Amino acid sequence: MTQLSESSSEQTDVEALIEKKVAGRSGKTYQQVVREDGDEIPDFLRPSWTDLGDEDIPAERYTSKEFLQLEVEHVWRKAWQMACREEEIPEPGDHVVYEIVNDSFIVTRTPGGQIKAFQNACLHRGRRLRTVDGRVPELRCPFHGWTWDLDGGIKKLPCGDWDFKHVDQERFALPEVKVGTWGGFVFINMDPDCEPLEEFLAPIPDHFKHTRYEERYKSVHVAQVVSANWKVALEAFIEAYHLPATHPQTAPSIQDYMSQVDLFGKNVNRVLSARGVSSSTLGELEEEDIYESYLEARTFYEERLGTNSRDVPREILEGLPEGMTARQRIVNTIREELAPRLGLDLRDTPAYQLMDAVQYFVFPNFFPWDSGMTNIYYRFRPNGNDPDSCILEIFYLTPVPEGQPRPEPAKVHWLERDGDWLDAPELGSLGAIVNQDRINMPEIQRGLKALPRTKPGITLASYQESRIRHFHARLMDYINDRV
Ligand code: FES
Ligand SMILES: [Fe+2]
Repeated sequence: MTQLSESSSEQTDVEALIEKKVAGRSGKTYQQVVREDGDEIPDFLRPSWTDLGDEDIPAERYTSKEFLQLEVEHVWRKAWQMACREEEIPEPGDHVVYEIVNDSFIVTRTPGGQIKAFQNACLHRGRRLRTVDGRVPELRCPFHGWTWDLDGGIKKLPCGDWDFKHVDQERFALPEVKVGTWGGFVFINMDPDCEPLEEFLAPIPDHFKHTRYEERYKSVHVAQVVSANWKVALEAFIEAYHLPATHPQTAPSIQDYMSQVDLFGKNVNRVLSARGVSSSTLGELEEEDIYESYLEARTFYEERLGTNSRDVPREILEGLPEGMTARQRIVNTIREELAPRLGLDLRDTPAYQLMDAVQYFVFPNFFPWDSGMTNIYYRFRPNGNDPDSCILEIFYLTPVPEGQPRPEPAKVHWLERDGDWLDAPELGSLGAIVNQDRINMPEIQRGLKALPRTKPGITLASYQESRIRHFHARLMDYINDRV
């Protein structure tokens, strides 16, 4: 049997397994929508799924202080995690302070151009060396002035020759952790024996080959402390099952229950939701209505693209030409009208990449989207030692217009705890969507404490919420040292 037929028969098995699992659902699948676009469906968009069972997930994983301590020890100190973007530290001494629970790191650029991540704690009496991002010529502790060079070697130890004779300065380099990069993202790992980043991320580097994310820049960065466990917040963004109830306004122009859910290996999963097609909950909608609904939400696209609704040509706002679907019209608009104004050539970019929600998750907390235009990425972290709160961050990654210098990366914009996401106008109309999610999160956290009186766990959908199950399977692999 050739390699090709082997893999295509495996593919048929996967598709048959999914068909069986979702028997009874109705509507157009993601594969059908993309096929109708007329674009060739790349292999990496094909379904990839395995049945992980239907068992409940214990509610205490979200509420217990002890479980958070297990996560610190077994997950956060062992897994690769996205710390920053390379363009945030272009010059020697540029640094970002990356913190995860009690651990703190200075991610910096050395004079030789290498990226290093140093433990952010003075080897004298422990003071944090850096509290904010910035650029420094050396790493100097403000307390007594112990100083390290940007390669981590000790440079100055006041009174070191007579009062610290017991200190071997050769051995007082700042401790480092592992650093890896992919797509312009900088990852760190505290485990000296960890697997290489490339292996950990697979199949992401392969699936994102066409994106050239290393050439983009972080154009938006909004952060908020949310009164919910980091996994509650993360899981509010990982499935399309909540769209009809939480974001009903999106139903006419995005897939929800018919989205494609994919699981890859142990660390990566994905959801694909087509835009410009309506929710199966609405039955058959007229293409005109779908288009109209899309236009109502159009600020989402314009603002992400950096344009303004006043600049949108009149003809785009007028109805749909005879015989054209809403999806075709939107794709044409993006390719022919919006992209050239932004200095982008998207004529050969397939429709799915121009408009669909193609959202990947990388264990434990990183969500990069695949998009030909500006794309979103998210990160979720515990907020210190508190199992009842977390830090939610939303970023945009924008292509640098051809022939122009790369703009400065955005600084973090902190919103008030559990506050209004409309206070971040740089997000465009995504702010209103996140507000709808945000309202759920503290209520989930409270409910998860009330639930176990009668029911010890949460019950997940077999298919639509299987990414949550996949995430927890990996979480428990780490907690039980099965990695
Ligand atoms: S604590 Fe850093 S120099 Fe004393
Ligand atoms: Fe949502």
